[in-house]
Amino acid sequence: MKKIIAVYPGTFDPITKGHVDIIKRASNIFDRLIIPLVTVNVSKNILFNIKERVKVTREVVDELGLSNVTVDNFNGLLIDYAHKVGATVIVRGLRAVSDFEYELQMAFMNRNLDPNIETVSMMPYIKYSFLSSSIVKEIFFNGGDVSKFVPKVALKYLLQKREKR
Ligand code: PNS
Repeated sequence: MKKIIAVYPGTFDPITKGHVDIIKRASNIFDRLIIPLVTVNVSKNILFNIKERVKVTREVVDELGLSNVTVDNFNGLLIDYAHKVGATVIVRGLRAVSDFEYELQMAFMNRNLDPNIETVSMMPYIKYSFLSSSIVKEIFFNGGDVSKFVPKVALKYLLQKREKR
């Protein structure tokens, strides 16, 4: 039977428990799950550079012990990356109505670029529905406790970042 390769792309700056929840769900459904981190995201104020983001995400994924999940990085169009790795599914987390318009636009655009690649939206556990990397950074750099929201490894790297500032 044909093996289905899915990509779960994102900025992951840093990875949150919401991302981890989606990774676990998607790894249960697809034969292989690749998490490609976008090298540059012009629309975002990025804290960790690509090497750091990949390192943190990899450490978190390693701890999960999911043998069908790998972490990578990519430049350029996601569709081109999907072709390169033979993926036919794009997984995206959908937290709330506020995500919907952006996700719908991206799904339609990616479908326009390649109608054979399907976007699958997955809802995280409700307690992570308000969580985003941006809000985690906002809370953290204003002195708040984010240990409930990010994996231990990500917290360690956030603390290191704050010490260097
Ligand atoms: O975690 P994010 O920041 O919401 O992820 C956004 C991401 C990386 C999936 C998106 O920006 C992307 O796919 N960037 C690569 C360029 C691309 O293909 N853009 C067209 C999508 S319509």
